[in-house]
Amino acid sequence: MIFESHAHYDDEVFDEDRDRLLLSLRENGIEYVLNVGSSIENCRRTLALMERYPFVYGAMGVHPSETEELNEEKLAWLKEQCAAPKVVAVGEIGLDYHWKEPEASVQKLWFERQLALAGEVGLPVIIHSRDAAKDTLDILRANRAEKIGGVIHCFSYTKEIAREYLEMGYYFGIGGVITFKNAKKLKEAVQYIPMDRILLETDSPYLAPEPNRGMRNSSLNLPYVVQEIAALKGISCEEVEKITGDNAKKLFRVK
Ligand code: NI
Repeated sequence: MIFESHAHYDDEVFDEDRDRLLLSLRENGIEYVLNVGSSIENCRRTLALMERYPFVYGAMGVHPSETEELNEEKLAWLKEQCAAPKVVAVGEIGLDYHWKEPEASVQKLWFERQLALAGEVGLPVIIHSRDAAKDTLDILRANRAEKIGGVIHCFSYTKEIAREYLEMGYYFGIGGVITFKNAKKLKEAVQYIPMDRILLETDSPYLAPEPNRGMRNSSLNLPYVVQEIAALKGISCEEVEKITGDNAKKLFRVK
């Protein structure tokens, strides 16, 4: 049983075969999909996917690079959507200093506001943090994020940073990057992180694993990620699937 904890099947690159692809997942061992919002429009599309497919769950949030669009009214709309039974998280939210737009002060403001929203509605968060390790930790600590709980999506920092998130009780989203030859520090981090804190994710359509690197990604590629984690941890693929699936169900409170 594989729990895909981070995908963007609302993306237009899936327009031509979305239905066929999603309906093929279960027969390929992918039992749950969490589709993650990144803008207000993508959240709307996520809600539609959740309604259509029983195995698709949703996260409502605005990605740091899209926070320029946010205002009080849209934040209130996000909060309303969090009441839907299959909305299981707030995300993806965070900081992205790789892309300098919008400026850091805007990203920080809406990161904090969406963290507060998660606290209010009682849902865990999905954190996007790129080239912003220190500010992300500072904001999470200042906003008592250990009480909210969540996952660091596409974890890309060192073992030392992983320790900080572990202490806060957070999970780590591990995807295609773990299969890349140059992912030495990530492989070290994954060896260090206990299995009961790892979630499987793809970030589809992005970040396809080897041997499909550079192509459109989908949850069907998750077995490559499972194999790599199993090798790093010295356990079986079945164990990786079972433990990460249980982790995701526990964090997102999916029965
Ligand atoms: Ni994403």
